[in-house]
Amino acid sequence: MRTVLAIGIGAGDPDQVTVEAIRALNRTDVFFVMDKGPAAADLLALRRTICERYVDDPSYRVVEVPDPPRDLSGPSYAGDVGAWHDKRVAIYETLLLNQLAEGEVGAFLVWGDPALYDSTLRLLDAVASRGAVDLAVEVIPGISAIQALAAAHRIALHGIGRPVHVTTGRRLAEEGWPAGVEDVVVMLDGRLAFTTVDPEGVDIYWGAYLGTPDQILVAGPLVRVAGEIERVRAEARERKGWMFDTYLLRRNG
Ligand SMILES: C[S@@+](CC[C@H](N)C(=O)[O-])C[C@H]1O[C@@H](n2cnc3c(N)ncnc32)[C@H](O)[C@@H]1O
Repeated sequence: MRTVLAIGIGAGDPDQVTVEAIRALNRTDVFFVMDKGPAAADLLALRRTICERYVDDPSYRVVEVPDPPRDLSGPSYAGDVGAWHDKRVAIYETLLLNQLAEGEVGAFLVWGDPALYDSTLRLLDAVASRGAVDLAVEVIPGISAIQALAAAHRIALHGIGRPVHVTTGRRLAEEGWPAGVEDVVVMLDGRLAFTTVDPEGVDIYWGAYLGTPDQILVAGPLVRVAGEIERVRAEARERKGWMFDTYLLRRNG
């Protein structure tokens, strides 16, 4: 049996790493690190900082997991993501078989929380169900970008007793404002989806690089601040080479 920990490490600030996560980090023999996209260098640096700061015995091994390129040019988004998922399952299986010995503990350091827009748990389930590796998976929750956003703006995410809807920029742009909610949290937005909703009566609470020294916050009526966010976002993206932003859209009144 091999044990694999999916450890939520927070959304960018090493101080967000929980005591439970620190205990899990110190049980780990091998860290598997996903190497992704233009944000990779900064995201890898944070993971390195976390290990250096919190792991007492530096004899752990680090294995970088090559993330296969994602080809979204096919006829179906779900089909393309499915094909990419299958490639990653095969890579994970090989790594767990070859890089982690029976009885050892491996860990994936997952950005934010593993339960939110992250494929690690689905991939590990798929590896386990193929049957080639005997896996025990444990999940350690982390502070997500959504919690970091709410704290930075000092807001609750929803009205009293009301629901909050969490979605992606792609869905908001394609399907419009979801029915029955006044509060919509948007992640994974590469397309400025907030510009596609009717801004009348809507407030936005926007945050980029939350929890990092580069954090940027803008809040106000969408009608008034949408242009400012577009400008600030474009400048920051140009300067850093990548962008991570999350926002709450709230129908006011
Ligand atoms: C693949 S998802 C990972 C979400 C992560 N599991 C979580 O719990 O926050 C990446 C998206 O999370 C959001 N995100 C993650 N970290 C962020 C940060 N420090 N500041 C702003 N948004 C962030 C962005 O919307 C980004 O596109």
